[in-house]
Amino acid sequence: MDHFLYRDGELYAEDVPVADIAAAVGTPFYLYSTATLQRHYQLFDDALSGMEHMVCYAMKAASNQAILKTLADLGAGMDVVSGGEYARAKAAGVPGDRIVFSGVGKTRAEIRAALEGGIRQFNVESEPELLVISEIAASLGKTAPITIRVNPDVDAKTHAKISTGKSENKFGIPISKARAVYAEAAALPGIDVIGIDVHIGSQLTDLEPYELAYRKVAELTEQLRADGHNIRRLDLGGGLGIPYTRSNEAPPLPSDYGALIKRTVGYLGCEIEIEPGRLIAGNAGILVSRVIYVKQGEGRQFLILDGAMNDLIRPAMYDAHHDIVPVVEPEAGVEQQAYDIVGPVCETGDTFAKNRMMPPLQAGDLVAFRSAGAYGAVMASEYNTRPLVPEVLAKGDQFAVIRQRPDFDEIINRDTIPPWL
Ligand code: LLP
Repeated sequence: MDHFLYRDGELYAEDVPVADIAAAVGTPFYLYSTATLQRHYQLFDDALSGMEHMVCYAMKAASNQAILKTLADLGAGMDVVSGGEYARAKAAGVPGDRIVFSGVGKTRAEIRAALEGGIRQFNVESEPELLVISEIAASLGKTAPITIRVNPDVDAKTHAKISTGKSENKFGIPISKARAVYAEAAALPGIDVIGIDVHIGSQLTDLEPYELAYRKVAELTEQLRADGHNIRRLDLGGGLGIPYTRSNEAPPLPSDYGALIKRTVGYLGCEIEIEPGRLIAGNAGILVSRVIYVKQGEGRQFLILDGAMNDLIRPAMYDAHHDIVPVVEPEAGVEQQAYDIVGPVCETGDTFAKNRMMPPLQAGDLVAFRSAGAYGAVMASEYNTRPLVPEVLAKGDQFAVIRQRPDFDEIINRDTIPPWL
């Protein structure tokens, strides 16, 4: 459930008409709903009730300061994957002991910054990384809490580009090697081995891969404990999928997922961490765009929007489907037409949807891409020197621009001309 609903014939974000925001901010823009973000966080928090736990929002999904603060105020931790994300989390007021550092290629500078600023744990992805963390922590006179990310060789049954738990993927260390690496870690200076981490992929719409992975993690926990390690925290990753269409999808709910966690690893008495990103932010955001032209092609009609692949890359990159709805609610029974919905960027890949049935639309009409809150704004670029689109946050009957649209000078002035030119 989200808070982007039609009311009196037009789309609202909570209690604000989307068209009012478009008039104030200009298009295209991302628009988030506070109540939806809060609700989705709460669903996970509730799903893990009864177990010691922390929901560490995977902020790669949407990392605006206002979004982070909204979630941090509810008690969320953060899962970060770069020094930039770590700095963003700190800037939003998240204390270091609520920040988990994931990622397959943490640099020395990033590791040092996290150790100096405080960190809940590093999720270590390789032996070389383990050695570097040990060296830096020891040189700073600190102890780095770590988990090791294991690769359970489980098929997440999702899009190949966002599947991470198979042995051919670059992530984690093979679970078969885990005991040896844990033994190595325990002997290193500056390292406190606290748990196990696993993350098998994103947009999972079936719980079975989780079940397989978490059972392997439970078994490993018992083995590692028998080896003498004090395994007390399990980071179970993120990845729970969301419905991208209104009609026929019913992915498992956070409550089902929570029950699965309790069933598979609950008996171990570990503190549980999860790292959901998409489910918290995805359906809490829309991309609002305006029709520039309706163009009659050979046997097809193009709806040319002012939003493009640089603003929302998911359709071009993953063939992802986003529902696209008119901001003015179509009259009941109106005859739909097929449109190819495209942006202005000079690539055929700048196509959001082909043959999409929509009510008749004209130049100037507003449309909204649903489910665009996660991996939308954060993956945007300025390709074609199209400014990064603004982000807006609604709360009840209020809204605020939480990232301004840069003007052309700001963009151009980032370049410098060398002295010889
Ligand atoms: N934890 C780790 C270690 C991850 O790599 C990810 C996502 C998450 C948590 C959060 O997964 P989520 O709950 O959001 O599914 N750009 C792609 C998705 C990439 C996901 C990368 N890792 C897309 O637009 O579909």
